[in-house]
Amino acid sequence: MTQTDALIQQGQATLRNNDRGGYTVPTAGLYPFQWNWDAGITALGWATFDEPRAWQELELLFKGQWDNGMVPHIVFHAPSDDYFPGPKEWGVTHEPPTSAISQPPLLATMARLLYEQAQDKQAARTRAAALLPRLAAYHRYFYRDRDPQQTGLVATYHPWESGMDNSPAWDTALSRVPPAQRSYRRRDLQHVDSDQRPLKSEYDRFIYLVDLFKQLQFDSDAIYQKSPYKVQDVSLNSVLLRANNDLLALCKELDYQDDLADLQRAGERAKSAISELWSDAHNCFLSRDLVSNELIPIRTTGGLMPLYAGATTQEQASRIAGKLSAWLDEAPFGLASTHPSESVFDAKRYWRGPTWLHINWMIANGLQLYGLNDIATRIKQASRDIIEQRGYWEYYNPCDGQGCGGPDFSWTAAIALYWLL
Ligand code: GLC
Repeated sequence: MTQTDALIQQGQATLRNNDRGGYTVPTAGLYPFQWNWDAGITALGWATFDEPRAWQELELLFKGQWDNGMVPHIVFHAPSDDYFPGPKEWGVTHEPPTSAISQPPLLATMARLLYEQAQDKQAARTRAAALLPRLAAYHRYFYRDRDPQQTGLVATYHPWESGMDNSPAWDTALSRVPPAQRSYRRRDLQHVDSDQRPLKSEYDRFIYLVDLFKQLQFDSDAIYQKSPYKVQDVSLNSVLLRANNDLLALCKELDYQDDLADLQRAGERAKSAISELWSDAHNCFLSRDLVSNELIPIRTTGGLMPLYAGATTQEQASRIAGKLSAWLDEAPFGLASTHPSESVFDAKRYWRGPTWLHINWMIANGLQLYGLNDIATRIKQASRDIIEQRGYWEYYNPCDGQGCGGPDFSWTAAIALYWLL
């Protein structure tokens, strides 16, 4: 068997072993439920060998969608004691139970990719069409509830919503959040070494926010007014813009009849607002702290995501590409999530340095939109080298390639199947 065949087999086995009857857990133990953006990426992997199962991944996630359109970051399909905070802590009345925050909304992009690459076009048409109103409601939720002043950029109220939980980009904003005063027991440290996970001081604040949203009864206006943490995350906004463009394209392809002019306008506003986040000094885009109203001056892979949204100028894209070689030279095993020369870079700690394969794909994909194929190929090759050497970990130390976090990880296996193999 060739190494590629072996990796394909192992990738498929990873998804099958993490399948809990129609939805896929990110990894056994550490993350025992269905996560939002994981489900999108994981569907791409399923699509390479089981198309109906790929659609089912998205359909089951939408069972968690709220009446206001929000798709929560976790859907608790079945109980488990392995994870904190579980459904009781969130306090949401919904069936199935869910968390109360969202995650980077990439689902429409994934639906478009599934549709376009489907072998069984007839089935894909039916299943994609059924998702369209739900996807539109999800985007409308973001553009309406998360941007009440119509700035073009939606706000996140919790670092978990960025999907990049402990990125150093959130440090200052998070430091204004008071620590939770109640005691609680983390479960993640039963599964992974503490030097690869967020700190207690961060968790105390994560939990404070969870409690606050419950106390405010998940009321969007109240949260916008009162959350001590409020960030316009450039990465989430880019993911949303890309997904919105993909949704509009998919609606057209499938002759969807609803009026989508509002989403069209929201996308145009978003594109121009993202362009305001460019920093000449950093050669990348920056998120905005909405409490201090300042841009957050740290180079992270999140700041490269406007490429994936097609929201940069050609000149900005070329400038980013020009700096990426150095970013990769300093830490060659994939793109370090925080630039290796930032003082806060930490090679093993989650989003403070490690490389994440689905992010590598998004950025390589974005670079290709601008014809920047050499650097895209370098990122792809580095990603391929890692899985050949280490298999499917949650994330990897970008300096030596060591696999970190949870093993046999769904989105890593999925993006490898879809992109690298
Ligand atoms: C962590 C990651 C997040 C991911 C989740 C499940 O919270 O930061 O991006 O969705 O784990 O894999």
